[in-house]
Amino acid sequence: MIIVGSVRPGRVGLPIAEWVRSEAEKTGDFEIDFVDLAELNLPFMDEPAHPRLRQYTQPHTIAWSERVDAADAFILVTPEYNYSYSPALKNALDFLNREWWMKPVGFVSYGGVSSGTRGAAALLPTIVSLGLVRVGPNVELTFGGKQVVDGVFHPGEKELAILARELKELARFADGLKPLRATD
Ligand SMILES: Cc1cc2nc3c(=O)[nH]c(=O)nc-3n(C[C@H](O)[C@H](O)[C@H](O)COP(=O)(O)O)c2cc1C
Repeated sequence: MIIVGSVRPGRVGLPIAEWVRSEAEKTGDFEIDFVDLAELNLPFMDEPAHPRLRQYTQPHTIAWSERVDAADAFILVTPEYNYSYSPALKNALDFLNREWWMKPVGFVSYGGVSSGTRGAAALLPTIVSLGLVRVGPNVELTFGGKQVVDGVFHPGEKELAILARELKELARFADGLKPLRATD
């Protein structure tokens, strides 16, 4: 599952995530569910019970839960906003709990001068809390918006190489973690 973390009109996150999707498709290793949080349009977390209990009351939560349950690995494409990551992404993560557990996750972060590194670092406590397993390689784009021309992201050699490693690790971790989930 590739999650587009930014929801602003004119966001550069969408073309960056579309590039991630096309590279993931080329590997032949993945069946991709592309989640644009702007389209998913979740409200602020509105469930009365802790998500760990799975006592969901809202149709949007039930649909989101089923979709994330079906995924074996994630790439979170997130901008850096004020030294942190996208609040829409935090909200989407917070909605669920066990659905994320013991599944691998990789980041594609971008920002201004920071390359989204502080946003990616801010994601770590949430990832740990949910039991997601982070893979090492992390695509980081300095002023990523400058690489978007006419709505298309143009990667450099470095970004292509890191994303390839990230995808390879995600595929391996997805296979490795599946049996561990099955024994729970
Ligand atoms: C509200 C806001 C806060 C931002 N804060 C940071 C920041 O702390 N560090 C940084 O490097 N860039 C920051 N930026 C720049 C964004 O990371 C950059 O414009 C990015 O491309 C935005 O992603 P988006 O177009 O997908 O929303 C900020 C942008 C916005 C809109």
